[in-house]
Amino acid sequence: MAQERKLFGILAHPVGHSMSPIMHNEAFAKLGLAYYYHPFDVPPIHLADAVQALKALGIAGVNVTIPHKESIIPYLDHLDPEAEAIGAVNTVVLTQEGRLKGYNTDGAGYIQSLRKETGIELNHKKVLMLGAGGAAKAIGVYLLKEGIAELVIANRTKEKAVRLAQHLKRYQERRADKQAKGEQTISVLDWPLVQQTGGEGFQLIINTTSVGMWPHVDQSPLALKGLGSDTVVSDIVYNPRETLFLKQAKAQGAKIHYGLGMLIYQGALAFKLFTGYEAPVNTMEAAVRRFLEENR
Ligand code: ATR
Repeated sequence: MAQERKLFGILAHPVGHSMSPIMHNEAFAKLGLAYYYHPFDVPPIHLADAVQALKALGIAGVNVTIPHKESIIPYLDHLDPEAEAIGAVNTVVLTQEGRLKGYNTDGAGYIQSLRKETGIELNHKKVLMLGAGGAAKAIGVYLLKEGIAELVIANRTKEKAVRLAQHLKRYQERRADKQAKGEQTISVLDWPLVQQTGGEGFQLIINTTSVGMWPHVDQSPLALKGLGSDTVVSDIVYNPRETLFLKQAKAQGAKIHYGLGMLIYQGALAFKLFTGYEAPVNTMEAAVRRFLEENR
């Protein structure tokens, strides 16, 4: 019997740097699936037509990235509750009934890789999050869902941190199970103040800013101070693999979490939504590492 063929892809603009096509195509090949994943370069003016085309052409699923993660929402039929809380979508699936459902696998992917690499138990933790952009929002929602005790947000532009804190507080208020998780506080710390204290007293410190990303490899978002072996330091920057921030954390004896994990696990969770199969994570990771080596 002929294998069922399906088309997937990514909607982005520009799409040139995306690693999703190699990650998914190699995963399909590994599982012997006759599926193909195509990079679609969709300028904002064509987004509405492109989304309609998914249905018209029966494209089984797509990832969505810059600049469409938020603007695609009005064109979808259903939204997963976490995607709704985050206010951004990175995965869209065409359902059996021909409807488009949006998900966000960034936050869950981040948490999965953090747990796998560090073994951290998030319940009751005191967390410092640097940055207040889209990645911070996705990660913030999932940290609260995981039952951390305290989330402190610090961002160069303070108003953005305040807005993110307000957004997360509204999410927390809407959550039905919040009592079960115990009290959770969300606050904002001034950027200069956090620079002075160097993150001392937190059990998990996460960089969600782009500081330290290639070619600015000699920059770090925070000169870390007073870390111990029970502190976990995490960076979502994956190029270079070990940023200056993570090098500093390692030198102080902290446990570290690399940015590549979030990229791979958001893809692995999207793969599961697309195909129904567990993703071959090692294959996806190997594809990404090879791509980074070749494009260094
Ligand atoms: P993403 O969606 O990937 O999170 P983003 O929304 O552009 O990207 O957010 C980038 C984050 O990196 C922001 O928090 C930004 O801080 P500002 O809000 O002050 O712009 C942060 N960032 C970028 N360059 C920075 C720098 N040189 N120093 C400190 N923070 C920086």
